[in-house]
Amino acid sequence: MAASTKVKTRWFCTSCGNESSKWMGRCPACGEWNTMVEETVVTGKKSSVRGESVPGAARKPVRLPDIDSSAENRVSLGNDEVDRILGGGLVQGSLVLIGGEPGIGKSTLSLQIPLGCPSLKTLYVTGEESARQVKMRADRLGGDTSNCLIFSETLMERILEEAESVAPDLVVVDSVQTMFTERVESAPGSVSQIKEVAAMLLRFAKESGIPVILIGHITKDGYIAGPKILEHIVDVVLQFEGENRGSYRILRSIKNRFGSTSELAVFEMTGKGLRQVSNPSEMLIPMHEEGLSGTAVSAMLDGTRPFLFEVQALVSSAVYGTAQRSATGFDVRRLNMLLAVLEKRAGFKLGQKDVFLNMAGGLKVSDPACDLAVVAAVLSSNFDFPIPADTCFAGEVGLSGEIRPVTQADRRILEAARLGFKQIFVSSYTTLDAPLSGSKIAIVKVADIPALVRALFK
Ligand code: TYD
Ligand code: MG
Repeated sequence: MAASTKVKTRWFCTSCGNESSKWMGRCPACGEWNTMVEETVVTGKKSSVRGESVPGAARKPVRLPDIDSSAENRVSLGNDEVDRILGGGLVQGSLVLIGGEPGIGKSTLSLQIPLGCPSLKTLYVTGEESARQVKMRADRLGGDTSNCLIFSETLMERILEEAESVAPDLVVVDSVQTMFTERVESAPGSVSQIKEVAAMLLRFAKESGIPVILIGHITKDGYIAGPKILEHIVDVVLQFEGENRGSYRILRSIKNRFGSTSELAVFEMTGKGLRQVSNPSEMLIPMHEEGLSGTAVSAMLDGTRPFLFEVQALVSSAVYGTAQRSATGFDVRRLNMLLAVLEKRAGFKLGQKDVFLNMAGGLKVSDPACDLAVVAAVLSSNFDFPIPADTCFAGEVGLSGEIRPVTQADRRILEAARLGFKQIFVSSYTTLDAPLSGSKIAIVKVADIPALVRALFK
C-alpha cells in the first residue's frame, strides 16, 4: 500500500448507500432501520465513484443548439418484449441493471438474449456459475451459441481488460454481488465494492459505447446491498418479479433514461427458458366458469399497453374482535380507504368484516383505474352476487365516493372489446377521444358508488 493511503472504517446504509462516520440505528437519508454496516475504505486511492473526470479530450461547455439530438443508436436484442420495455432496444453505451430475487430467472434471461440474437457478439461474464454450468444452461435453452463468449472471472480489472480486447457488441455481468475491484479493500458484495464495480462498468460503457447488462440480486424486502444503491448509478433498471410458486415472471422497468417507465413484460418460465407472453390479458383473466362471486376484471394500463386482469376479493365476518385487511399486489392503505368510502358514502357496513384482496398472476398494481374493479369485487363477495364474466371496469374512486375518469380510456375500452368483453364500467365524466366505431362493447357510465351498485346488482 502506498504511503499516502490511509485505512478507515466507515458505515454504509445497505438500503440507500448513505455513508456515515459512525453507526446509527436508523439511516438519516432513507429512514430505514438497522441497515448500517461497517466497511473498510482506503482513502488516497483513485476512485471512480465521484469527482473524477473522464480522460481523453478535455470537455468544454457546448451551446444547446449545437448538440446533436438525433435519436440514440439502439441495438435490437431480438427479444420483442425486452426491446419494448427498453423503449425500442438497448441504447449504445448504456448500463442496464436487471434486479430480482435469487432464482427468478435473471441469468436465464441474460443468456437467452445473446442466444436468440446471434448477430450480437456477446461477452458473458459469470461470477456465480462455472463456464460448464453456463454451457449446460445454454444447451437447455437452445439457440445459436457461436457468437457468445463465456468468461468466468470476478476481478473487474481483468474483465474490463478482456472486454476491451474482445470488443463485443454486448457485455453481460452476472452478478454485481460477486465482482470486485482492487481499488477497494472490502469484500465482494459490500456497499463500497458494489458502488465501485458499477461505476467502473458505467465508465466502460460510456467510453466504449458497448452496452452492459448488469445482474443484481435483491431480497423480498430489498435488504441485500445492491440494486437499491445501484439505481442512482445505472441508466436503466429492470426488475424481475413474480410469485415463486407460479411460472409467470414480470419484468418491469422502474427507471429508464431512454424511455418510459412502468412498462412491463410478462414471461413464462418453461423447461426451455423464458417464453414471451405477448398478450398478458390471456393469462390474467378468469379461467373459471361464470357464477363465482368476489371477482371483477380491471382494464389497466402499464406504461403504454392496456391489458386486463382479474381482481379477487373475499369478504367474511370477522372471527376475532378486530377485522383483518390484507392485500396481495395492491396497496393495503388504498384498500382501507376504499372500504371507508364504501362505508361512509354508500352505507355498506364492512367494519366487522375481514377483507382479503388478491391480484391475479402475482401482479403488483398501482394504476388508480383498478379502484373500480376492487370495489366491485368487494361488493360482489359481500353480497355473494357474481359479476357477469363479460364485464370489466376502469375507474378511480374518490374520497366522496365519486367515480373519476382515467387516462387513455379509449385504449382500455378497445382492448376489452378485442378480448370479447360485452360491457365496461367507466366514470360518467369520461371523454372519449376517438370514435369507438365497430366495437361491440357497451360503455356503462357511472357517477358514484350508489350508481355502480344500482347498475351491477339490479
Ligand atoms: P436463474 O436464471 O438461474 O435465476 P437467477 O439468475 O435469477 O438466480 O433461474 C433459476 C430457475 O429457473 C431455476 O429454479 C430453474 C429454472 N429454469 C427453468 O425452469 N427452465 C429453464 O430452462 C432454466 C434455464 C431455468
Ligand atoms: Mg443467476
